[in-house]
Amino acid sequence: MKAKARAHANIALIKYWGKADEALIIPNNSSLSLTLDAFYTDTHVHFDEHLAEDEFILDGKSDPKTLVKISKFADLFRAIKGINTRVRVKSVNHVPTAAGLASSASGFAALGVAINAALDLNMDAEVLSTYIRQGSGSATRSVYGGLVEWQKGSNTTDSKAVFIDDATFDLGMVIVVIDKDEKTISSRVGMQHTIETSPYYTLWAKDSARDLEAMKEAISNKDIDHIGSIAEHNALKMHATMMSANPAIIYMQPDSLKAIQMVQAMRNEGLTAFIAMDAGPNVKIVCKLSESDQIVSRLKTTFKDEQIIVSGPGPDAYVLEE
Ligand code: DP6
Repeated sequence: MKAKARAHANIALIKYWGKADEALIIPNNSSLSLTLDAFYTDTHVHFDEHLAEDEFILDGKSDPKTLVKISKFADLFRAIKGINTRVRVKSVNHVPTAAGLASSASGFAALGVAINAALDLNMDAEVLSTYIRQGSGSATRSVYGGLVEWQKGSNTTDSKAVFIDDATFDLGMVIVVIDKDEKTISSRVGMQHTIETSPYYTLWAKDSARDLEAMKEAISNKDIDHIGSIAEHNALKMHATMMSANPAIIYMQPDSLKAIQMVQAMRNEGLTAFIAMDAGPNVKIVCKLSESDQIVSRLKTTFKDEQIIVSGPGPDAYVLEE
């Protein structure tokens, strides 16, 4: 009962921000993301009769805080299999630099794929995504490569990932690492606080549904300018909604704004470049891969080389040879 798997991180172009069901992680709005080639997690699992407790080692160090979530997640699969065997989980996050972009998305997706293989559960990616979702919402989308929708659904079996497009039409991202420290307010806490205190929250969810339809249309037309402009508007609306929470949640830092203004200037010069920030200060730029060199050279006038990472679309999550 051992297996190893790899899953790539994803960045949402239509954001998930808020749960309709907190326990089952069913979102208020459907979301859509690009799986990234440059960031992934490799996870090895071993369900071992000799273990008294679950164990979790991340990048060579034990991580008791995340272990609680991982045990709960493993319980979902143990229940299906009808076993109580404890599991040893070893994960390694692969990021090009010490970027602090290690994501729960690639982590829970790799874990789900590895457990599915180790326990011979034979779930297909779509069904597996409904379990991975219960580890972390954004992880739902990392089961597939390219562009992926997380359909919000209304219950635990239909809130799932759906593959949209392999995104091999020059779509890419440039990531500007502003701060690699762990954020002070987690997405989980931040989104709940926004629902509870922002007068704009319902409008955000409603508008996102409209953005998603427009995004799917832009993807079917392989129109990167349109994809980028919808993504930027969606991301900044999410940040505006967070800022309208009480007390406000502000993830941006002065250098985030500096990067945003540089992107606006690049656009005025004719480059395809749009913002897609998450719950943190790092700035992701939706772009054409063929223009990424030009974008990087402009960013280098202000940011250090190691702060800038280019990524194309990544693959599906998959089982690795041990
Ligand atoms: C801003 O998936 O980390 O990145 O479901 O509570 O684990 P939980 O939250 P998480 O939230 C991600 C929020 C986001 C937007 C997105 O990825 O869609």
